[in-house]
Amino acid sequence: MITITCCTQKGGVSKTTTCEAIILYLRKQGYKVLAIDLDLQGNLTSYLGGDNKYDAFDVCLGKVKIEKAIENDLIAGGANLAYLNQFFETNKLTAIKTKLKTVEKLYDVCVIDTPPAINRTVLAGLCAADYVIMPSEPTRDALDGILQTLEAVKSVKKSANNGLEVLGVLMVKYKERYTVHKQFLNYCTKANKFPVFKTKVRESQAINNAKTNNDNFFDKQYMKANAVIDYWNFAKEVEKKIGLKK
Ligand SMILES: Nc1ncnc2c1ncn2[C@@H]1O[C@H](COP(=O)(O)OP(=O)(O)O)[C@@H](O)[C@H]1O
Ligand SMILES: [Mg+2]
Repeated sequence: MITITCCTQKGGVSKTTTCEAIILYLRKQGYKVLAIDLDLQGNLTSYLGGDNKYDAFDVCLGKVKIEKAIENDLIAGGANLAYLNQFFETNKLTAIKTKLKTVEKLYDVCVIDTPPAINRTVLAGLCAADYVIMPSEPTRDALDGILQTLEAVKSVKKSANNGLEVLGVLMVKYKERYTVHKQFLNYCTKANKFPVFKTKVRESQAINNAKTNNDNFFDKQYMKANAVIDYWNFAKEVEKKIGLKK
């Protein structure tokens, strides 16, 4: 099982949507994909139609065995996770990684969504990962966010998970016609501080339409929208970069 954690400390920058894209694409390709929602907002859970009896906090606490908490290939997030960060104040950040060992033979890939923060919950999500993906808008402010997240990645690499690799920064809400977006992308590519995905994700209302209708945004009726095409190509890039072959 290859584990990918999606994180940035900024909210509303398409973290959850990026997780959804990877999960939905890989499932369409026939892979077994486990989704884990570590966010108390529970957006990934609700989008995937999760109505689980237990959540990620219950698993970490040991209230339930991980196999029992998984319903429809999802470990749920939600309001109960408000206490998860506190849990990690006194418990090992490797708790999720350790629990995942029990189910690693059942899945090809595990995708972990995180809250918009750099806190102990996010660090635990990074501890469990082989790869990290950071979605970011192409702006100066966002760059500071990426650099701060990279510092967190470095500290996790040094302490608990030296195999952790940055798979890339994904440029989201990208506008071709904005010179400043192009300049930002050029700057990032030249500075060479982190890998950037070739695919840049444009904005389309179709993403929200699909979510509102509880549809898979890779269903045929949405596939003509720019953002949907871009998310598809991005997920394909991920499939290749993590060396999946089937
Ligand atoms: N490419 C896109 N085009 C249009 N809307 C998008 C796109 N990506 C994400 N969104 C919307 O932006 C909002 C924030 O995205 P979300 O993935 O929930 O961000 P985060 O998890 O970082 O808070 C959501 O309403 C989502 O549907
Ligand atoms: Mg989110």
